[in-house]
Amino acid sequence: MAWQNKQNRLLFLFEYTTVKYVGTQNKKIGLLYRIFQLTIMGYLIGWVFLKNKGYQVKDDTLESSVVTKAKGVARVNTTDSNLWGPEDYVFPNQGENFLSIATNFIETPNQKLGNCSENPEVPNNTCSKDEECTVGEAVRAGNGIKTGICLETHNGTCEIYGWCPTEIHRDPDPATIVREAENFTLYIRNFIRFSQLNFSTSNVPKENRSLYLKNCLYDETVCPYCPIFRLGDIVNKTGNKFEEMALKGGSIGVLIEWLCDLDVDSECRPHYSFVRLGSDVPVPIAINCLLRFARYFTDVAGDRRRIFYKVFGIHLEIMVFGMARKFCIIPTIVNIASALTLMAAVSM
Ligand SMILES: *[C@@H]1O[C@H](CO)[C@@H](O)[C@H](O)[C@H]1NC(C)=O
Ligand SMILES: *[C@@H]1O[C@H](CO)[C@@H](O)[C@H](O)[C@H]1NC(C)=O
Ligand SMILES: *[C@@H]1O[C@H](CO)[C@@H](O)[C@H](O)[C@H]1NC(C)=O
Ligand SMILES: *[C@@H]1O[C@H](CO)[C@@H](O)[C@H](O)[C@H]1NC(C)=O
Ligand SMILES: *[C@@H]1O[C@H](CO)[C@@H](O)[C@H](O)[C@H]1NC(C)=O
Ligand SMILES: *[C@@H]1O[C@H](CO)[C@@H](O)[C@H](O)[C@H]1NC(C)=O
Ligand SMILES: *[C@@H]1O[C@H](CO)[C@@H](O)[C@H](O)[C@H]1NC(C)=O
Ligand SMILES: *[C@@H]1O[C@H](CO)[C@@H](O)[C@H](O)[C@H]1NC(C)=O
Repeated sequence: MAWQNKQNRLLFLFEYTTVKYVGTQNKKIGLLYRIFQLTIMGYLIGWVFLKNKGYQVKDDTLESSVVTKAKGVARVNTTDSNLWGPEDYVFPNQGENFLSIATNFIETPNQKLGNCSENPEVPNNTCSKDEECTVGEAVRAGNGIKTGICLETHNGTCEIYGWCPTEIHRDPDPATIVREAENFTLYIRNFIRFSQLNFSTSNVPKENRSLYLKNCLYDETVCPYCPIFRLGDIVNKTGNKFEEMALKGGSIGVLIEWLCDLDVDSECRPHYSFVRLGSDVPVPIAINCLLRFARYFTDVAGDRRRIFYKVFGIHLEIMVFGMARKFCIIPTIVNIASALTLMAAVSM
């Protein structure tokens, strides 16, 4: 008895059940079934495969390197020069994925090391007697070191030792705008790689490269793949007036988007767009200022002197993003299988 019981218990291992199908001539149920089938087929083909490209793998691990080069010369009226080239107006000098182009400036000529009055706009530098001006103390947010003398004739500010006279404080002047900057060109070279799909390319066409680069200029409709841009066009595309932006400066984002379908077109192409950054936040002019720098020289008397520049300009930030797709058998099988599963569920 005992061994028979054991045998019965083990028998379930060798059991197999099948589903029993019931055929029916009911037109309503038949129609409903076909509609469900068609819906699922439509979903699979239309949505999963055509719309969402479910037969491809996506790769958004974009690695990118950007090199920029600005070109053009401009007439300027400064104490030390009347012509500016890229070496004068591009900051920093080696172009990367960000650069600034000077379009306006305020010049303080002929500064010399010595004693003079501090700019009265510098806060916390007022005094009524010499004791309030500690010798050797630096003026906070100021231009020099206190000499210990209170200059009552200058509305009571401490005298300083520094580059004198101090920087001229005023709003940027439309008369000093570097007008030719509108015609400066910016060459952007962008190498990208999708690491998962092991696909690399660049935004410069492979064929007739040097000839193409000599003659082309980016234009949304005529020449959308040319990597050379006119500064005036970039500003215009952001919906801003060049004169306005050149006067006080501003930031622009250059967006390079790569959407690559590697099945259709092995040469995937970039799409460029331009946005003004931070335009909805009102910023004081002092913050719009790009940078300050000085040029040093020795005058005829042998004294060290310098010309001090406060520069306004257009700051460009180049941002690269994108995605590549390519056929792959695994997502294809997974998507078909899930649709078949759905269909099987419907027949239940
Ligand atoms: C340059 O500027 C100075 C004053 O800042 C002016 O006197 C001079 O006429 C200007 N020169 C030119 C060529 O515009
Ligand atoms: C500046 O003032 C200090 C302190 O009064 C004095 O020692 C120094 O000689 C002055 N320098 C010049 C260039 O006048
Ligand atoms: C200016 O000095 C006053 C009093 O010494 C101090 O309360 C204030 O915080 C200072 N302001 C700045 C901007 O340093
Ligand atoms: C002193 O202050 C008066 C009025 O606040 C101003 O008109 C004048 O220009 C100031 N002088 C200096 C040297 O800053
Ligand atoms: C920019 O170049 C065009 C054509 O070369 C010229 O007509 C225009 O005057 C230039 N603009 C400036 C501000 O120099
Ligand atoms: C990536 O592609 C290059 C040529 O296109 C090939 O030489 C290299 O072996 C590939 N690397 C991987 C990891 O597949
Ligand atoms: C490259 O230049 C040659 C000669 O200038 C021309 O025949 C050829 O069509 C050009 N190729 C492309 C892709 O423009
Ligand atoms: C941009 O340029 C077009 C054509 O030159 C001009 O019609 C438009 O007013 C410009 N936009 C701005 C904001 O200056």
